[in-house]
Amino acid sequence: MVTWVFHYLLVAFLIAISYNIDAASAGITRHYQFDIQLKNITRLCKTKTIVTVNGKFPGPKVTAREGDNLQIKVVNHVSNNISIHWHGIRQLRSGWADGPSYVTQCPIRTGQSYVYNFTVTGQRGTLWWHAHIQWMRATVYGPLIILPKLHQPYPFPKPYKQVPIMFGEWFNADPQAVLQQALQTGAGPNASDAHTFNGLPGPLYNCSTKDTYKLMVKPGKTYLLRLINAALNDELFFTIANHTLTVVEADACYVKPFQTNTVLLGPGQTTNVLLKTKPIYPNATFYMLARPYFTGQGTIDNTTVAGILQYQHHSKSSKNLSTIKPSLPPINSTSYAANFTKMFRSLASSTFPANVPKTVDKKYFFTVGLGTNPCPKNQTCQGPTNTTKFAASINNVSFILPNKTSLLQSYFVGKSNNVFMTDFPTAPIFPFNYTGTPPNNTMVSRGTKVVVLKYNTTVELVLQGTSILGIEAHPIHLHGFNFYVVGQGFGNFNPARDPKQYNLVDPVERNTINVPSGGWVAIRFLADNPGVWLMHCHIEIHLSWGLTMAWVVLDGDLPNQKLLPPPSDFPKC
Ligand code: C2O
Repeated sequence: MVTWVFHYLLVAFLIAISYNIDAASAGITRHYQFDIQLKNITRLCKTKTIVTVNGKFPGPKVTAREGDNLQIKVVNHVSNNISIHWHGIRQLRSGWADGPSYVTQCPIRTGQSYVYNFTVTGQRGTLWWHAHIQWMRATVYGPLIILPKLHQPYPFPKPYKQVPIMFGEWFNADPQAVLQQALQTGAGPNASDAHTFNGLPGPLYNCSTKDTYKLMVKPGKTYLLRLINAALNDELFFTIANHTLTVVEADACYVKPFQTNTVLLGPGQTTNVLLKTKPIYPNATFYMLARPYFTGQGTIDNTTVAGILQYQHHSKSSKNLSTIKPSLPPINSTSYAANFTKMFRSLASSTFPANVPKTVDKKYFFTVGLGTNPCPKNQTCQGPTNTTKFAASINNVSFILPNKTSLLQSYFVGKSNNVFMTDFPTAPIFPFNYTGTPPNNTMVSRGTKVVVLKYNTTVELVLQGTSILGIEAHPIHLHGFNFYVVGQGFGNFNPARDPKQYNLVDPVERNTINVPSGGWVAIRFLADNPGVWLMHCHIEIHLSWGLTMAWVVLDGDLPNQKLLPPPSDFPKC
């Protein structure tokens, strides 16, 4: 009798334990509401109306744990169309919640709403969310922080505090008007007026000292800075005077820690760094600065945002303290960029292995860069010549988004014929010396073309920069997947020589990688997520000019390898 009772209790106990473990790993559901609304805001002595989420700029922080389900209701109260992308979230089988307008959904129209419903699976770290239609993301963005599961430690010392710092770009003009003007005239877009930390330009701009981001710290502590480059068009160097940063994560993937004074983030990229503060109170405050890295030919905003790192002291005031100013690499320092990028390695531990595909089913070679479109008759254009407009392309195809439906919907209902074609070139149709003297004809072709992949295909993709209208770095972002960066170099990719140098042991895993200015990068990924996934340059004007394409990943045979059906409140086209 006693043994029976004991046995019963033991079984009940074990069931309870396993249930709790399941419950913990299954996560909880977290609800958010995003009201898209206008807000008046003053920067650089000018007041303007911007589109925001919940009246906040930058937008609200979304926090979840690995395993949680997020349900974010977006209600559009403004006259612009809107859709929100959860940048870096894998969206396993839930592509309907990915967000790019006319790719996975039609935009949410004025007065309408849509609940983005997705589960965070196998990811933890710093990501972000942003509008994904035209240039609305200029003001509609915010952090998306995924904490490890309960009781799961970070693979680095536990930080005393964690602070998101979002880099942005501020336009005195309406960013949508800047885009429209650029597309109309064919010229490069007007540059922004300032860069920002968490929406604040800082003291190096006129009329802006009161809008300075301050990071208050205590001596002898470790802070986790979650750096996010939300700028529209600018890659940014970031540094803090007299402090060394330890990089521990990139794009929500842990990396082998390394130290640096200056980090570089392309638009779309995130980097977690540990900041160890001085052991005792220093008699100074410290500037943090960010300023572009740029090698292209256009004009950009080369101004510097400054914030202040300040040590809290109970008795001393900071009034009379001197502020120490750091220096940054030269604006065109491709050598700094290359050396910095090489430092990133996957943690590749038993808990966080680097599951880089060792064999490859499909190989692709894509050129990425600028080009031209003809100027319409009866118009004078301001592209590279007065008869051309600027354009951009992948394998010389400048991507045209559909405007009556989305790629994913047309694929799902089996009516893609009139919407997209499946003949995206797997390699350039007319090969040339990509990083040498550019060809005379720089015209791009235009189309809506995709690459179709069978479920579970292992893909190797070489992204080759071109010198057409100048060499320039391109931060390429892939929706729906992380990839491994197995190789990179300058000049033209050499298929006989370069693959021998690939790192298949601990390559960094990311969702956005710079194609080096005048060089190439090789990535691998496993196509284990059915759906339609955009891949594009995260420099917004390059995306607007067509530097994008899409992968269609077919369903697998098993029930859990299929794209789920769209939710009932899915926006109408
Ligand atoms: Cu963060 Cu398609 O973008």
